Amino acid sequence: MNSHLFSSLTVGAQTFSNRIVVSPMCQYSANDGCAADWHRMHLGALAGSGAGLVMVEATAVERAGRITHACLGLYSDANESALAQTIAFCRTAGSAKLGIQLAHSGRKGSCEVPWDGGAKLAANRDPWPTFAPSASGDGSVVACTQADLDRIKQAFVDAAVRAVKVGFDVIEVHAGHGYLLHQFLSPLANRRADQYGGELENRMRFPLDVFEAVRAVVPERIVVGARITGSDWVDGGITVQEAIVFARELATRGCDYVDVTSGGVAPAKIPVGPGYQVPFASEIKKSVGICVRAVGMIVTAQQADDIIASGAVDAVTLARAFIDNPHWPYEAARVLGEELSYPPQYARAEPKLWPGSKLKG
Ligand SMILES: Cc1cc2nc3c(=O)[nH]c(=O)nc-3n(C[C@H](O)[C@H](O)[C@H](O)COP(=O)(O)O)c2cc1C
Repeated sequence: MNSHLFSSLTVGAQTFSNRIVVSPMCQYSANDGCAADWHRMHLGALAGSGAGLVMVEATAVERAGRITHACLGLYSDANESALAQTIAFCRTAGSAKLGIQLAHSGRKGSCEVPWDGGAKLAANRDPWPTFAPSASGDGSVVACTQADLDRIKQAFVDAAVRAVKVGFDVIEVHAGHGYLLHQFLSPLANRRADQYGGELENRMRFPLDVFEAVRAVVPERIVVGARITGSDWVDGGITVQEAIVFARELATRGCDYVDVTSGGVAPAKIPVGPGYQVPFASEIKKSVGICVRAVGMIVTAQQADDIIASGAVDAVTLARAFIDNPHWPYEAARVLGEELSYPPQYARAEPKLWPGSKLKG
């Protein structure tokens, strides 16, 4: 073993063969929440990519928690059955562990898919009222009542129970990117005066309630983590100090890892560059005894290996690099002098059997 990237990692009750994670990526290709052929192709390829873990895209826990009409969901028997078939197929296509990100879009719901512009759905496009900590002036965003919070928390729990039945190894609660749980956490979206607004302790209350309720129904053998924000990148928004407090509270509730992202709750100038979110993840790792993953503009094998070798985080999560090259780990192994076992169908492209691999530099 020459690299750090390809060393195994134990998180909670699961051991991953390496520290490479495929980031959740919305595909906007579902039918009323049901996975489609596209998901088989997309997730099947990634299951065989050589990554230690593949995270399925943000999956809505209730219909109103979708971003678009085409978002994946886990709120009905039909959703569960379609996803179970996709995941069973992935198990035959590769050996990656499989995780799912459970999400609620909150005020970011009821939109067109990105390639149709991503705008709010017009009246003739079957829009739905969206839920958030605080209402909007135009009435399209409803401030959650206690009954709404109870319903949404139960929806997370029900979706988690379905995810266990589908057979996932990892369940992740999405508390980033400006979606509902992040809306509660951030003072930029949460203007409530009750026990869910104001001080951080109050803003964390609903996300922590949801996490705790999910963890309680998921067996110990399944890893449960969260994607959290390291910064809102806006004055008056969440800072890494608040993220540390949140991560610590999650850890005390049985959270196995945090995956640290940023932004998305309000317009911000984000200095996007190589590994730009790693410092947040590293701060959290230093301060909280929890497994931490870094994400964002991690692109090359050497960069990924250096991040792990530095001890900044435990694992790296990559999104667009896997769209660019769904066999990214094979390429990384070649660059870092590691040997990954290829499925027999692909064995003739192993570096030791394929002279052409030397031409790749
Ligand atoms: C097509 C696409 C879909 C995405 N969907 C999700 C998602 O479902 N959940 C999520 O947390 N992040 C999502 N993201 C963000 C990525 O997971 C990742 O955090 C971000 O792209 C930065 O990583 P990268 O520089 O490796 O692409 C998406 C990104 C892309 C490119």
